[in-house]
Amino acid sequence: MNVFSYKDELNRFEGDVISIILFEEDLENINLLGSEIKGKIERILEIENFKGKRDQFLKVPLGDKIKSLYIVGAGKKSELNEETMRRIGSVISSNMKKNKYEKGLVIRDGEGKFDQPLTEGLILGVYSFEKYKTKDKEEKKVEEIYIYEGKEDDIRLGKFLAEAQIFTRDLVNEPGNVINPITLSEIAKNLAQEKGLECRIYDEREIKEMGMLALYSVGKGSSTPPRFIHLTYKPDKPKKKIAIVGKGLTFDSGGLNIKPGDYMRTMKMDKAGACAVLGIMKAIADLKPDVEVHALIGAAENMPGGNAYRPDDIIKAKNGKTIEIDNTDAEGRVTMADVLSYASELEPDEIIDMATLTGACMVALGEYTAGLFSNSDELAKAIETSSKRTGERVWRLPLDDERLRKKIKSSVADVVNSGGRYGGAITAAMFLEEFVKEGIKWAHLDIAGPAYSKENFYYYQKGATGFGVRLCLDYILNST
Ligand code: BES
Ligand code: MN
Ligand code: ZN
Repeated sequence: MNVFSYKDELNRFEGDVISIILFEEDLENINLLGSEIKGKIERILEIENFKGKRDQFLKVPLGDKIKSLYIVGAGKKSELNEETMRRIGSVISSNMKKNKYEKGLVIRDGEGKFDQPLTEGLILGVYSFEKYKTKDKEEKKVEEIYIYEGKEDDIRLGKFLAEAQIFTRDLVNEPGNVINPITLSEIAKNLAQEKGLECRIYDEREIKEMGMLALYSVGKGSSTPPRFIHLTYKPDKPKKKIAIVGKGLTFDSGGLNIKPGDYMRTMKMDKAGACAVLGIMKAIADLKPDVEVHALIGAAENMPGGNAYRPDDIIKAKNGKTIEIDNTDAEGRVTMADVLSYASELEPDEIIDMATLTGACMVALGEYTAGLFSNSDELAKAIETSSKRTGERVWRLPLDDERLRKKIKSSVADVVNSGGRYGGAITAAMFLEEFVKEGIKWAHLDIAGPAYSKENFYYYQKGATGFGVRLCLDYILNST
């Protein structure tokens, strides 16, 4: 699917459908369609009581040249924001998909302030993961959508952001028999090659040699060994250096503390943080910001094999701190201990990590909002600003509860990998903080809830959402 700007005269458009977006106070914009169409639909608008309210959607049959007209309510003009526009875009394109339309034109308010999110919504709205479904015949797909007098730079940016998010969705939706630590590292390598990024993949022997015994231990219960992935984007004169870290559990069975079946289901998505990091790098390579970006992924599969790490084990992480294992199912933070230590050694200005870290975060915030934790108010505020713009919800949770922090103290090691039930998302974040070098600004996004969706809603389809990709890209692109 591709989105373009339409620069020609309206009545010369050839395609299946024209969509017009109308505000409550600007219903007369219907005039843009020309008197012929207008005459046809004025009566319909009346009968259908179309007032331009948000979520109002009308499909009007037109004729043989253009099959239909979609009339989409956008609500009050003063209340319009990026997210509303994104959702409107997805309403249009998902209806085109439903109607098996291939080509469409979108007419929106003349200002076109939100062509970027409109483009994102158009692209994200038609996504589906169907590569493993056998089909009788090739189905018609939405191929091209034009925005009438669309702003080309905004459309371009919207495309990169949405395509990066879709790249991530596709990876997260792949099951554990397809993506394992080795194949994930190959995907990262191919991406780097294609986009001209630096790439280093470390195998299990190197992981051990580098002192990343925490990552190594989590991976050793699986017959597929762990990998450590480091991609770099380096512009000529970087104004800043950021490390992005993603939890990369290609499958989380729980390990010896094995999950019951219902909880193990969907755990192919435990690599969503890593896949978001890869999606971000794909877009970064194209958008070329003045920021040096390091992408770091500890890839492992958490399995209960004969060589699996155990409860009671004591493991030394890369930064020298020792970890007592209380529960092998709290594995993500153990892998990330090493990756955050490595990230700290690069001495970046900032580290941002994304991890499907805790069920507790979903209990706290629901499944549509990521937990945001940070040692820097400034960084947290900037991420909140990006969250507003991208519609990817975050809510900041505290790291300053010193009594809670005691729960990850261990009697035999420096820290223990589980702090129990209460405040589980917070104690997990506090655990991560132990491995971030002091003085480096750090933000942690617990995306356990929003990374994967049980239902279709807005521009999300059931399955992987690609959450975090546009959020972090928006942050990085606006951070200098
Ligand atoms: N990958 C899970 C967290 C998770 C749960 C992500 C549900 C998405 C949906 C993580 O590794 C895990 O198992 N966490 C445990 C921690 C506990 C053992 C301290 C949890 O949340 O129950
Ligand atoms: Mn787990
Ligand atoms: Zn996990």
